[in-house]
Amino acid sequence: MTLTSGTALVTGGGSGIGEGLVRRLAERGMTVLVADVDLGRAEAVAERVRADGGEAVAHSVDVTDPAAMGRLAGEVFERHGSLELLVNNAGIETGGRVWEIDPARWRSLMAVNLDGVFHGVAAFVPRMIGQGSPATVANVASVGGVTTMPFQGAYIASKHAVVGLSECLFHDLADVGSAVRVSVVLPGWVRTRIFADAGGLAPQGDSGAGEHFEAMRVSNLERGLDPYDAAERIVDGLARGDFWVFTDDRGPELMRRRGEQLLERGLPTQP
Ligand code: NAI
Repeated sequence: MTLTSGTALVTGGGSGIGEGLVRRLAERGMTVLVADVDLGRAEAVAERVRADGGEAVAHSVDVTDPAAMGRLAGEVFERHGSLELLVNNAGIETGGRVWEIDPARWRSLMAVNLDGVFHGVAAFVPRMIGQGSPATVANVASVGGVTTMPFQGAYIASKHAVVGLSECLFHDLADVGSAVRVSVVLPGWVRTRIFADAGGLAPQGDSGAGEHFEAMRVSNLERGLDPYDAAERIVDGLARGDFWVFTDDRGPELMRRRGEQLLERGLPTQP
């Protein structure tokens, strides 16, 4: 799986890590479909790729809508015949003590971060299996898929679920002898608009959730990798066929600590 030809589709491709992936994959020679709920963002990214000599097409899609994802999959296979790489990347943030999280916000976060990955798999994987040639599904979780911390219950729960879903998908694909492989991506800090887009969606009361969320937003901007650099690490991992894919060396270290904690049945620790 060299990821140098064929078609790739990146959900949430209009910004951040998704945008970095779109640019890197197009530079390697893939035709990249930039799928985002914000069509303006997707078009801007596709336009930039084409200006740089690559091939990219913008698509408007809401990953929370299974019918829309099904229609997109039909369109992609009709036009391109096969899909060599699907990246289920779209994701959003929120904050708050577990008992403070607004149920509507919990639902909308799960709808994007977890249901969106499920809808991507359900819409595309049967067709990818059917094409009979090698292909990869990459589900973007987070190092938050193997760590825990206060104020991040909804986001962390969604990312642990994406890791579990991806491992189960690995078993299902192996069971049916498919040439489709799956990877799960665990990015560390990457400098993107994810916290800014979440706006004031952390409770602002006395619990400290608002301050914590603001500190995370600042950390993300000050300590985060450039998305284009992070995408290089991700694409290298996918091209090698790694199941666990990281953006930096902290990811494997956090996984090791999680393994030790489970082995020792230790109390939860923070990264
Ligand atoms: P971002 O906010 O820069 O980009 C996310 C994109 O997803 C946006 O263009 C947005 O319009 C799109 N999107 C949101 N809801 C959508 C929907 N319902 N349907 C289709 N598109 C939708 O975010 P970022 O940081 O690039 O995040 C990408 C993925 O990486 C997410 O899954 C996030 O959880 C994960 N991640 C990010 C980290 C970071 O430090 N930025 C760290 C670990 C994981």
